[in-house]
Amino acid sequence: MRKLSLVALALLVLICGISLVACASGDSERDSSGSSSSLGSDLGSEEIAADDAKPYYYEEGRAERYASYAEANPELSYDEVVWRVDADVDKGFYEDTAVADDPNSQLVLINKHSSLPDDFVPQNIVSISGGAELRADAAEAIEEMMRDASQAGVPFFVRTGYRSIAWQRDLYNSYLERDTQVEVDTYSARPGFSEHNTGLTMDLSVEHVTDMHNFDNTPQSAWVAENAWKYGYIVRYTEENSPITGYIEEQWHIRFIGREHAKAMKESGVGSLEEYLVKYVWHLPPEK
Ligand code: DAL
Ligand code: ZN
Repeated sequence: MRKLSLVALALLVLICGISLVACASGDSERDSSGSSSSLGSDLGSEEIAADDAKPYYYEEGRAERYASYAEANPELSYDEVVWRVDADVDKGFYEDTAVADDPNSQLVLINKHSSLPDDFVPQNIVSISGGAELRADAAEAIEEMMRDASQAGVPFFVRTGYRSIAWQRDLYNSYLERDTQVEVDTYSARPGFSEHNTGLTMDLSVEHVTDMHNFDNTPQSAWVAENAWKYGYIVRYTEENSPITGYIEEQWHIRFIGREHAKAMKESGVGSLEEYLVKYVWHLPPEK
């Protein structure tokens, strides 16, 4: 009787052992793909299912970064993990930064991971009404936008447009006399890392020489948020995309990306230029 029980116990242990191995291998497959979708029972269908779970902007060479970012951010969906890593958001701000290789492009990405070349000076800088300087393509669009805003009863002006990298350095250093670097980095870009250095970006204001925050929650800021895309502009730093950009909300800071892309970005519903570039420019969605 006792011998029989021992045999039964041994059999039970064997069966459990086999199922544990099967369970563990299923879990590790899910971890590496990051997908919570159920996987097939044989190896072939497991591989297919894992591939299907990869978004179209998944890049093979980044598997390890996806895995560690997913592990560190379990609250994020796998798709969110992948586009963020593609945009270098997994890197610390100002760590291991790159120099943009398309500094004259309307779509150039300038953020805390990507700077302009040290000696960069944009071409075709012009003065607009009110005195600010901008690249000609951005200037033409903002003049039209300002005219339409005035006609709609919400006039605003451009307070600052293009800033040279040297000007940005002076500005950033002046803030450092007032606040700690951690604080300054939440509202001012380091030299070469400011979109203002591209000539495609400007700060809007409703009154001359007043605090930038006076633009917040005015009829003008609401009109800009609603209409900027029609002129090729985006509000670059929103409360929503603050974890991506590393900046506090700036309702007044708008960036020219061209009418076609501003429209496409609005229609896509994405919340940041980083996400738009990964999903609609650096990779193209599969045709339906
Ligand atoms: N205030 C924005 C982040 C800049 O300095 O470019
Ligand atoms: Zn700005």
